[in-house]
Parts: sequence; C-alpha cells; structure tokens
Amino acid sequence: MCGIVGVIGAEDAAPLILDALKRLEYRGYDSAGIAAVTADGAMDRVRASGKLRNLEKAMAGHPLAGGTGIGHTRWATHGAPTDGNAHPHVAGRVAVVHNGIIENFRELRRALEDSGATLTSETDTEPVAHLLDRALGAGADLRTALVETLGALEGAYGLAFSFAGQPQTLAAARFGSPLAIGLADDIKMIGSDAIALAPFCDEIIYLEDGDFAILSADKVEVFAKDGTPVERPAQPVPMQVSLAEKGNYRHFMAKEIHEQPEVIARTLSHYIDVGAGTVRSSAAPVDFRKVSRLSISACGTAYYAGLVARYWFERLARLPVDLDVASEYRYRSQLFAADELALFISQSGETADTLAGLRAAKAGGQTIAAVVNVPTSTMAREADIVLPTLAGPEIGVASTKAFTCQLSTLAALAVKAGIDRGTLAPFEAEGFLNALAELPRLVAEAVTLEHAIERVARIVAPARSALFLGRGTSFAVAMEGALKLKELSYIHAEAYAAGELKHGPIALVDDELPVIVIAPYDDLFAKTVSNMQEVHARGGRIIAVTDARGAHAIGDTAEELIVLPDVPAFVAPVVATVPMQLLAYHAAIINGTDVDQPRNLAKSVTVE
Ligand code: G6P
Repeated sequence: MCGIVGVIGAEDAAPLILDALKRLEYRGYDSAGIAAVTADGAMDRVRASGKLRNLEKAMAGHPLAGGTGIGHTRWATHGAPTDGNAHPHVAGRVAVVHNGIIENFRELRRALEDSGATLTSETDTEPVAHLLDRALGAGADLRTALVETLGALEGAYGLAFSFAGQPQTLAAARFGSPLAIGLADDIKMIGSDAIALAPFCDEIIYLEDGDFAILSADKVEVFAKDGTPVERPAQPVPMQVSLAEKGNYRHFMAKEIHEQPEVIARTLSHYIDVGAGTVRSSAAPVDFRKVSRLSISACGTAYYAGLVARYWFERLARLPVDLDVASEYRYRSQLFAADELALFISQSGETADTLAGLRAAKAGGQTIAAVVNVPTSTMAREADIVLPTLAGPEIGVASTKAFTCQLSTLAALAVKAGIDRGTLAPFEAEGFLNALAELPRLVAEAVTLEHAIERVARIVAPARSALFLGRGTSFAVAMEGALKLKELSYIHAEAYAAGELKHGPIALVDDELPVIVIAPYDDLFAKTVSNMQEVHARGGRIIAVTDARGAHAIGDTAEELIVLPDVPAFVAPVVATVPMQLLAYHAAIINGTDVDQPRNLAKSVTVE
C-alpha cells in the first residue's frame, strides 16, 4: 500500500505533490519519488529511499520544473526499498506510480524482455509503463492504449501516469486499490484518498473499480474498463480531512491515546440516548430480531475489536457470532444463509482483505454492515449499513483511538441487539448504557496511570519476549496488548487465553519473561489468578493489570500492579486497553524505535 499523487495545471507541480505526499506517508514510507513534465514536454524525476524527508533533500539539490507530475510514497512489496525500485517508473514517454500488486508481473516482464525491453527495477510496476508506452508507440490513442494495457493486468492497482511530450495530460486507473480525482478551478489532481486532495481541491470524484480517467487542467473524463465513458458524480471535499497536528505531544500516538475520552464520548453520543435508555435506531439501523447470526471479519487491531464484540453479542443478545481475520474469511468456503448480518470493521475502510471479504459476502447475498472511521472510504460506500466511529483522523500507524471507538460502537450495537431480541430486560439495558456513558471518564482515569505504566515499561523494554494472558474479553485485550508491543517496540510478544498457558506457552516462563496478565475482578478472576500462580511458581515476572479488588487478592504474586479504576465488567476491555497502549508506547520510547511509523508497517494495507 502506497500513496499516489498526480497534479496537472499547477505553476510548479513538484512542491504541491510533495505536500500532498506528506499527507499520504501513513500508507508507506520506505522510499518516494516524483516525476514532473515541463510546459515544453521534458520529463524529469527524483527518487530517494527512506522517508519523504530524504526525497525533499534530494529535490533541494535537483529541483523539478513543470506544472504537471506524479508522485509516490512506497511500502515495498516487490523489490527492496532502494532508489532504483522507488516509483515513478519510466519507460519511453510514460511515467507511472502504482499502489497494489500486479500478480502476473513475471509473465508480463518475461514477454517484454523477450521482445527486447530492458527493465531496470525489480518491481511489479515497471512492466505497466512499458506496456502503455508500447501501445502508444504502436499508434493507439491514449484511451485505447489504456484499455489494452489495463486489460493485460491481473491483480490490484491504483495507477497514475504522466507523459513526456504531453504536459497537458495525466491518466489514472483503479482496480482493487483506492483512488480519487480532485477538482479545482485551475488544477486537477489524483490522490489515494481525500486527505491528500482536501487542501487543494473543492470537489472529489471517487473512481469505481475498473474505472480509468484522462485528465487535463480543465477537464476530467472517466471511462469504464472497456473504454466506454461513464459519469461519476463529483462530491464536495469532506470536512473532516484536515491534516491532524501533533499539538504539544511528542508523537501522534501519544496525542491519540490522550484524545480517547473525547472521541469515545463523541462516538457514544452518536449511538446512545442515555436519557431515553435506548440505542438510536437512526444511528444503528439494524433490526436484530431479523438477524439469526452475525459474521464479523477484520484485520489487525480491528479484528481484536471483533473478538471483544463476539463475547458481547453472545452474552447480551444470545446471538451466534462467527469471527475471522479477513484474509482467511475471504478465501473460506463461507456458508451464507438468509437472515445473517456480515459485519466488517476497519479504521481506514480500505484494507484490501477486509474489502474483499465484504465483497464476497455481498456477492453471497448478505446484508453488509461496516464499522469504519473514514466516512468516504470504499467500505463505507459499499456497505448497506454504515456504523461510523467518530475518532477523527488517526495518524499513528498503530491504532489506538480508532480501536476504542470501534469497541464503543460495537458495545452500543450489542446492547441494541439485546434490546431488539428481548434478551436484555429494560433495566439491564439501562445498566449497560449507563456503564457506556461512564466510559469517557473511566478511560480518562486510565490515561492518568501513565507514570506507573512508564515504570513497568522499563521492565518490559529490555526483554526479548513477553507473554500476555487473559480470559474472556480480557483475552482479546491481551491479544491487542501483544500486537501493540510487537509492532511498536519490536519485542516478540504473544498472547494466550490464560487457560491455554499449560498447553505450551508455560515452557517459555523463566525469570526473564515478563508476563502481562489482564485480570479485572470479574467472574473469571479466580481462574486467571490460578494461572498467575502457575507463572509465579516458575519464576515468571508478573505484571498484573487489574482493579482495586483484584489488586488486593493478587497481592505480591505480581511484581507490578497496574490498578485500573473499578469499572463494570461490560466496559472493562475498553478501559484495560489503555495500559496496553501506554506500555507499548513507553517501551518503544525506551527502545528508541519509530513510534508513529514503525519499521515495515503501514497504516492502510491496500494490498493482500
Ligand atoms: C494495519 C495497521 C493496523 C490496523 C490494520 C487494519 O496493519 O497498521 O493498525 O489495525 O491495518 O486496518 P483497518 O484500517 O482495516 O482498521
């Protein structure tokens, strides 16, 4: 997943492209490049491995002239993140930038080489430039050449092209990877998302899968894959896409952790009417009386939100729940039945596997609901029911506030399911809604534990490996805690259901292994404490995340206690997530890793 930008009609395209790329760096940041075309048609490019600031430095010594151009920030799939593999790739008159994977690139490459072409990179993208250049060289007009070239590609792509000798033309194409066109009076732009285009454009056209577009400074023509012109409506630039600022925080992640009370409150007030004791049907238009089964799928952190939700839906609404990581769900032989609701959870609304799962369920006749944080995303546009999380833009690659807002949304939905299905008496539903109403305050209290957690991070940061344990919803929190720690601090971390400890992971326990146990004082507490004893007896270093009653019972079995406010068991997983985030954050600071942009990761994973 990479970031793509194109500009036509500007006075000086390169600085504008660079500015827009900065807004897309969350999509990948291992190399970057820009190609610009001058008014007399000369094309030049600059590429640099590493983050965008390296490209910026390179451009200071090698300025790019011209009002038309394309740019790219890369998350490498094919070929190491070197200067030579950085986009744009050029063949003859064509320069291309690409997001996605061209699955038949080997065959394309071989055929091109057999017929005399020289390819200079290891990427799956470069053959695309050669194919289009050949089609144009054979005399085809641009529309025909694009139909021919795109028709030869298998896999997923968002593509932008510029052309030497043609400063008045840019082209874009989309299949399986997001791409939008930005419109302003004097310029037209191409971008991976609205965030990149918002400051420069008044309106946005979202391309649909299979579309391609030919742009000049004053016109955008959109075509279906076979070259037939199609109309795609221009929409106003969404309001909520201004680039978030770090404020006084050292990292976006720190800001986003601290923002949680506010954004959870915003999200919950969208869904619940505490005064009336209801979940607003207008916000969650699902009649759960008509739903016989829920299938949830998502990736990464969003999947763990689904894992918590499964416990909630089963307990509160007695609703059977299937749960899958989307990369498995999409390729399973799913058994779709009538009256099922397929629910997809995604911060970005663009994750390739989740989107493919959504489309598979749609093709199977399922009703589709999507919990998404980006209201203009592909999933939001393709779902039957959109359940927004109102977390605002999340910039840190590791998800924090989007996750707790997903949990808040899913908790409200589970209460609605319980009300609809009659499994919750009105007083019980009211109790759950009151607990939700308390969440912003409870999360704010959990955030104040930062100093205690910083101390614990000093135990965890030097470790080679860490184990996270929990039962029930605390198991899901343990999974999220282990994911946060490994992605941010590069410490190997695994999470287990505490009851599984003796079936293998206990072999890892020695006096160097930090074992983080999430153990609120709930109906599974005694069971979890038994597992804690098993670790303690083998010299493991226990860090217990609990509440006051739990702390009293655990006593000195734990080396460190993180004592959360007393919270109703229903909302405990949301509150217990906060120390997981802070622990990973501080371990990363101690280990000196890149908190907001950890190595090898990207925020929006638009490739398989
Ligand atoms: C990437 C991000 C994770 C995120 C996952 C799913 O791996 O680094 O933070 O949880 O994608 O993303 P989504 O946008 O679908 O929630």
